[in-house]
Amino acid sequence: MARKRIIAGNWKMNMTPSQAAELCATLKDLVVNDNVDVVYCVPAIDIVPVAQAVKDTNVQVGAQNLYIEDKGAYTGEISAPMLVDAGVKYVIIGHSERREYFGETDEFLNKKVKKAFEAGLTPILCCGESLELRERNAYIDWIRLQIRADLDGITADQVKKRVIAYEPIWAIGTGKTATADQAQEVCKIIRDTIAEMYDDATAQEVRIQYGGSMNAGNAAELLSKPDIDGGLIGGASLKPDFGQIVNA
Ligand code: PGA
Repeated sequence: MARKRIIAGNWKMNMTPSQAAELCATLKDLVVNDNVDVVYCVPAIDIVPVAQAVKDTNVQVGAQNLYIEDKGAYTGEISAPMLVDAGVKYVIIGHSERREYFGETDEFLNKKVKKAFEAGLTPILCCGESLELRERNAYIDWIRLQIRADLDGITADQVKKRVIAYEPIWAIGTGKTATADQAQEVCKIIRDTIAEMYDDATAQEVRIQYGGSMNAGNAAELLSKPDIDGGLIGGASLKPDFGQIVNA
């Protein structure tokens, strides 16, 4: 089964609303490719102007977070229905920066994944190991545990629709990309884990991205691997290089 590629930019905490609109204009003609789903995961305050700027283009809008309740007294949070109403289609869940700096646990992230599905959003669930785990050769068990915990109670139909991003923490923002073989190894392990939890047909439909210092120079090789269906791109998503990655 041919899985459609998905290239998502993770803008992180970059771009004011006016800068965001300018970046959309800069990238507009560079990211055109009907064979690829292109997503900009932007800061909450940029969602509305970016949704406006990418209207009638092939780009879809993603968020970087959501809260597990629909509304109420949760100062500073943003809910799934708010995202949906603003035109958001995807939401990053469980980025290592959220896990590390904001203490988000697998149990909490599992609730976020469920909430995203309930609202009709496609979660881009992130997983990945630290350098220490890789050096101890414990990364495979770690990834399996993360996937199992984050998918707990999710149906096969939901799993098929989701996107999973493998992002080794040691490669994020460091310029130190995993080799294509290292990335392929873990992306295959993720797919095998889903096959064990569900079945092979389900596993074959899940789209798995690699993320971590992906750029215009290394994207083509990473994307040539059989289990890598796309990329989650941080730094390079804020530059015209993003267009080269989409078309790699
Ligand atoms: P990077 O970030 O491309 O800047 O390494 C990727 C990410 O954290 O999603």
